[in-house]
Amino acid sequence: MNFNNLPSRVKLVEVGPRDGLQNEKQPVPAAVKIELIHRLQAAGLTEIEVTSFVSPKWVPQMADNAQVMAGIQRKAGVRYSVLTPNLQGFEAALKCQPDEIVVFGAASEAFSQKNINCSIAESMARFAPVVQAARAAGIYVRGAMSCTVGCPYEGDIAPERVSYLAGLMKGIGVQHVGVADTIGVGTPLKVQRAIEATLKHYDINDVSGHFHDTYGQALANTLISLQMGVWQFDTSVAGLGGCPYAKGATGNVATEDVVYLLHGMGIETGIDLNQLIDAGQFISDFLERKPNSRAAMALLNKRLNS
Ligand code: HMG
Ligand code: MG
Repeated sequence: MNFNNLPSRVKLVEVGPRDGLQNEKQPVPAAVKIELIHRLQAAGLTEIEVTSFVSPKWVPQMADNAQVMAGIQRKAGVRYSVLTPNLQGFEAALKCQPDEIVVFGAASEAFSQKNINCSIAESMARFAPVVQAARAAGIYVRGAMSCTVGCPYEGDIAPERVSYLAGLMKGIGVQHVGVADTIGVGTPLKVQRAIEATLKHYDINDVSGHFHDTYGQALANTLISLQMGVWQFDTSVAGLGGCPYAKGATGNVATEDVVYLLHGMGIETGIDLNQLIDAGQFISDFLERKPNSRAAMALLNKRLNS
């Protein structure tokens, strides 16, 4: 394996407040979400996916989107993003002045239907005016591409499907795409193929990795992506998360674990691991569970014993 390509600095997009909390059954008050975001930005995260402007019937946990956006004390140098599946969501989001919006499509037809109630082609028709309006307002547009290696309904997904989706995203003006392993079934070579398929349409600087850790493969998948030159990843504090429409899928790879990996390899993130662990402990205490991060647990135990 060639490690000559490794970036010297990596940007992490913290998706815990959105991808992480959207899957929680118990209501998490807006004040707790806001406090979590404040702790994350204090720990040095500069990109935070705050919430989503989706139907509250589909994802009740995100119904307080505007309240959370309004409650954040914005920190200079931090960018705040939100998910917008259609114009209705975008118009609501616009009032909250996000720095970036995310349209989210899928490489699998079945997942597109289950998650956003339309086909891949219909999703593009919905996203196109959102992308146009966002760019006209000077808001950066990211696209999330779900099920790029496997789908809970269709099984394995061929790289050609990923390339097709990436091409559609490019065609409607999406500026950056995230290659998502929604259900965490990917292993490094499959993830590599999904990224290569994406690179047919996007520059490496406009591609990020979004790996759920259901099968414990997310760090390995992060490593192979790094080796390909990918330097942007979505991660979730305390390993929170999952998608309500991808049953059985667990959270994203824990931010703490990725920071430990990167710092251990001499790659800068600008993140203070100890403060990040405290943020993870804060939300885990609220949810009455231990952080789902091996690095956080090891370092918390070390603190107790020192
Ligand atoms: P729909 O039912 O087809 O929408 O849902 P519709 O346009 O037919 O409208 C039906 C009702 O929804 C109407 O209300 C609309 O007002 C309302 P009613 O008249 O019945 O009272 N509605 C909305 N309300 C608030 N905000 C909106 C909105 N749009 C319509 N934006 C829709 C289509 C996309 C809205 C729905 O399917 C939905 O909300 N899906 C969201 C699913 C979701 O949030 N999934 C999780 C995020 S994606 C993810 O986690 C994957 C990712 O992490 C990457 C990875 O890991 O793969 C990004
Ligand atoms: Mg996700």
